[in-house]
Formats: sequence, structure tokens, C-alpha cells
Amino acid sequence: MSHTLAVVNCSQLVTLAGPPRPRSGAELRELSIIPDGALLIRDDRIAKVGARREIELQIEPATEVIDAAGRIVLPGFVDAHTHPVFGGTRADEFEERALGITYQEIAARGGGIQATVNRTRAASSDQLVSIGQHYAQWFLRCGTTTIEAKSGYGLSLEDELKLLRAIRQVDAQTALRYVPTFLGAHSIPAEFRTRRGDYVSLIIDEMLPRVAQEKLAEYCDVFCEENVFSTDESWKILSAARCQGLGLRMHADQLSRSGGAKLAAELGTVTADHLEHVDAEGIAALKSAGVQPVLLPGSVYALGSTQYPPARAMIDAGLGIILATDFNPGSSPTPSMLMILSLASTHLKMTPAESITAATINAAYSLGRGNQLGSLEAGKVADFVIHDCDDYRQLAYFFGVEHPWRVYSSGQLVFERS
Ligand code: NIG
Ligand code: FE
Repeated sequence: MSHTLAVVNCSQLVTLAGPPRPRSGAELRELSIIPDGALLIRDDRIAKVGARREIELQIEPATEVIDAAGRIVLPGFVDAHTHPVFGGTRADEFEERALGITYQEIAARGGGIQATVNRTRAASSDQLVSIGQHYAQWFLRCGTTTIEAKSGYGLSLEDELKLLRAIRQVDAQTALRYVPTFLGAHSIPAEFRTRRGDYVSLIIDEMLPRVAQEKLAEYCDVFCEENVFSTDESWKILSAARCQGLGLRMHADQLSRSGGAKLAAELGTVTADHLEHVDAEGIAALKSAGVQPVLLPGSVYALGSTQYPPARAMIDAGLGIILATDFNPGSSPTPSMLMILSLASTHLKMTPAESITAATINAAYSLGRGNQLGSLEAGKVADFVIHDCDDYRQLAYFFGVEHPWRVYSSGQLVFERS
């Protein structure tokens, strides 16, 4: 028998209904809010969205009715850039950075990503699954229902497969939805430092074919950066990934202007992520190639930098921008999209409405799920969050507050704050 749920008495039902594509320019501010709105859910899908009166007419004796008591309702956040499974933490390096040592200095002496690689390699599959489950609960309680999930802390064939399989298992065992990305090109592992070409070959000849064969990832990402993967190496890896049927994403122009945005445009990747150092030429290239920028202000903040990406220039250029957490143990240890919305307003000068669009429907399109997720429209998956406030702008304004009151994934209650 089907289960019907009605959510009524929402001061603002923030639907994000609109054209079936990423939103850009002035569209970013159009949230399609229904004041005193209501939702009707049948099983895992949204059956109807409308004014309270309209929905109330459809309530039957068997319908479960949730009184939102004047709270607001939004789609679950879609976090399009995370590194959510890793061994250990880097709280030790965080402390050192507070004392003035830089992220790059720590990486150069064998810490940073390599430190997490060592801990991830030492962890068993079961340990990685339980670590992933632990962080999955963090995402859900922050109001996120879908995440893109990168590997990249294994950096050997077996360890990358171990990570991607752990991600698949956590996806199956928790209410959080995962879209997996292969990031074997996250760093050159220590044992390949003096023969980097061999590591690039390992990725292309062995890792990518296995990942594709086992269908362990939908996307491939590369950390294109000075002293990490050059634009030439990135081009080779991403071209090979495309031949294996994977979609393309890219860490681009994060710590320096290394030609990442231009390469992303040349390759026509789905996204170019970070872009703290992109210039006007890079922005124009992204626009003409239809690449969606993924902005990650959490990593700028947590690295103690002030070089935020030029979001306003990207909005003016008409790009379908996205905001994401970059959750990872080094540069951005936060699963909270609410924290990102706050940073987007204070540092990227994005309005709360623009940020919400970037954190929901635009992100869903970049993951190939724009027709299923990211907005509250009839027929879509019933991923929604009742936030404990009465105006959507308060989500970004009151920062450090856990706004989600109830979180639903596929029509099921998956988190409730007492
Ligand atoms: O997105 N830029 C590369 N990767 C991550 C950092 C990963 C780490 O420090 O462990 C990022 O910032
Ligand atoms: Fe990242």
C-alpha cells in the first residue's frame, strides 16, 4: 500500500521550480516561493506542490500530516564536491597551521594529502565504511541529502578500489545519496615521486579501466595544480576517463592560476571546481564551453586565506554557478552547506537566494540529476528539509546554527531534532 504524507503550514515553501536547466544570472534569485505552501508526498516522490488549501483538499484519513508550524521547507541540499571517506583526521596539522605553517609547507614535508593517504591505506574496508557512515549522519543533520563523493586517498589500484567500494556500501546503507567520482589523480603518492609518469600511466592503464568496468564511479576528477598534476597530465587523464565513459570534473586554479579553467573549457568538463585564481579570460572560456563552476569558500576560510573566488564576475558572465562544501580532512573539514551559505554572502557577496539555487538545483544538474533532485516539483524525488525559521534568508544570516528540524530523503524521515 502506498504511503501518503502531507506537509502543511509552511511559511515559505521554497520550491526552486523553474526551467529544466542550471539557473544563471538573474534567475539565481528566483526561488519560486509559495507562501503558506504545502507538499503532498506519495511514497518516495513529490505528488503535488501548492497552496495549503489546495493540498488540504487531497488529505485522506490515511494521510500522515506534518504540521510545519510556520517553518520553511527547502529541497535537501545537493553537495556537488566532497571527499567524504578517509582514514584519521588532520587536527594535528590544523593546530600547526594556526601557528603559521602553511598548507603547502606541510604537504612538501610529506604531510597533507599524503598523511591522509597513509591513514586511509592502513584502514580496513569495514573501518572505512563505518567512518563513511559517521560522516553521512553529519551531512544529513546539516540538511544535505545528496553528495558527490570523491576517492583520492588510496592512490594505488587496490586502495582506490577499496575507497570507491566503501562509498558504494555507505550509499547502500545510509539515507544519504552518493554520486561517486574517481580521483586517483589527487596527488602523486610518495612511492612515485621520482617517476610521476609511471603514476599517470597507472591511472590511465590500470585504475580507470577497473573503475569503469566495476561501475564504481560516474565521474573522474583531477587536481590540476602547480606541483600536483600539470595541464598536460590532466589532459591525458581526463581524455582517457572520457573514453571509459566517465563524466569529467576538475580541481582548477585553486592555489595558483595554472591554466585549469582554460583546460576545463577545452575539454568541456561538466564542472571546474575552486577557481580562486581564475581570471576574466578563464571565466569567458568557461562560459563559452558551458562549464559549471563549483565554488568552495569553506576551503578558503579554513585555510585562513582571503583569496575567495570571483563569484559576482561569474554570475555577471552568466555561469550556472554551484556552491559546495569540499568536505575533506585538510582544507575544508565541514559538512555544513549552511556554513557555506553564510560564507557565500559574507565573502562571495552572493545573496541568500543565489546561494540556495547554487546549493540545490544547479548542483543537481551538474550531477546529471537535475530532473530528479534539487527542487520541489511534482514527480521529483521527495528529498526535503523543514528548517526551524520562518524566512529563507535566516539560513545564511544566523550562522553556526543547526537549522534543520526534520530531514526527509525519498519521502522517509531520516533526521529529527528534538
Ligand atoms: O579540494 N585540492 C585538493 N584537494 C582537496 C584537499 C584535500 C586534502 O587536503 O586532503 C581540496 O581542497
Ligand atoms: Fe576538493
